[in-house]
Amino acid sequence: MRHKRVIASRTGGPEVLEVVEEEIPEPASGQVRVRVLRAGVAFGDILWQSGKVPGGPKPPYTPGYDLVGIVDKLGPGVAGVELGARVAALVRIGGYSEVAIVPSDYLHPVPADLDPSEIICLTLNYITGYQLFRRIVKMIPGNRVLIHGAAGGVGTAMLQLGKLMDLEMYGTASAPKHELVSSLGATPIDYRNEDFVERVLDITGDGVDLVVDHIGGDHLNRSFRTLRPGGTLISTSAYASVKGEISSFATLLGALRMPLWNLLPNKKSAILFDVVPFNRKNPSFFGEDLDALLGHLSRGEIDPIIATQMPLSEAKQAQEMLLAARAQGKVVLICNEQ
Ligand SMILES: NC(=O)c1ccc[n+]([C@@H]2O[C@H](COP(=O)([O-])OP(=O)(O)OC[C@H]3O[C@@H](n4cnc5c(N)ncnc54)[C@H](OP(=O)(O)O)[C@@H]3O)[C@@H](O)[C@H]2O)c1
Repeated sequence: MRHKRVIASRTGGPEVLEVVEEEIPEPASGQVRVRVLRAGVAFGDILWQSGKVPGGPKPPYTPGYDLVGIVDKLGPGVAGVELGARVAALVRIGGYSEVAIVPSDYLHPVPADLDPSEIICLTLNYITGYQLFRRIVKMIPGNRVLIHGAAGGVGTAMLQLGKLMDLEMYGTASAPKHELVSSLGATPIDYRNEDFVERVLDITGDGVDLVVDHIGGDHLNRSFRTLRPGGTLISTSAYASVKGEISSFATLLGALRMPLWNLLPNKKSAILFDVVPFNRKNPSFFGEDLDALLGHLSRGEIDPIIATQMPLSEAKQAQEMLLAARAQGKVVLICNEQ
């Protein structure tokens, strides 16, 4: 039997994606074959394709940070995974495919009666937000958070989780997206026409407890200035570098300065966070946190914002949409309908 998958044929942007058709792969020892229902399209996919971050995969490979699917075949020695079960996984690469081979210990069962397009919103974006709020910083009701890119996939997820936790929220976004940011309970800030540092300090007086910055470079410095004493800056990405707005050197310099800020006598801290190594290092967290999020989803306490759903064959257009910041919420690839 044959299947289709998308490959990043070389280093570059969405233009390097190609759809290939090949024999369905066999799972090796410890692996599981999954018929993929939905794959997430993440800015992280574009980041890795760009070759601008060290340690990324070498082309050709299949992008796709996260997937939801059905267990199709077990490799030798696999126990504790049921044929036909619905599962989700944070794989980092390999999601953009009709069929994926996944190490069995990355898989977590998910209910078959929930929409796989909503579950795929949880597996990367909500997990990231949930872990930042609950495991990394331990936010409490009334704490203040500034979220950059608040109308994006991760941003909308964080706003919904922050509202559940009664956080006071501020979100940067371009003006056409402010209605969405407000509707999710945050004060929108038009970063293109306002100085977000001044605006946050004007409104709050002494700043926020947490700022999540995916832009990188000197932007980190500005984000750090929005913190009140005891606050934390979390750097999550190198967005501006991938978009060609700053150089890779400026991104590196921004990250290298962060440890120095931790030495300042203002009780503020600055850290890097990457959800995949964090969950590999703490293997029980993904399942525990996904179960908590699935609980919120099934009780209607979160309502993932899906910007668009596109067929697997349109992965290139899906990435173009993300790169041009046209998406509000999550971009989802339909790899198999059911
Ligand atoms: N470290 C981790 O564990 C982790 C996990 C998940 C995601 N991430 C990172 O998180 C970021 C967001 O991912 P995503 O999938 O949510 O991407 P996304 O949906 O494309 O959202 C990013 C948003 O940022 C906004 N933006 C662009 N420049 C900005 C600026 N200077 N200031 C404020 N907002 C700006 C864009 O909208 P507007 O400009 O129109 O407002 C865009 O919609 C990515 O960089 C990704 O790599 C990191």
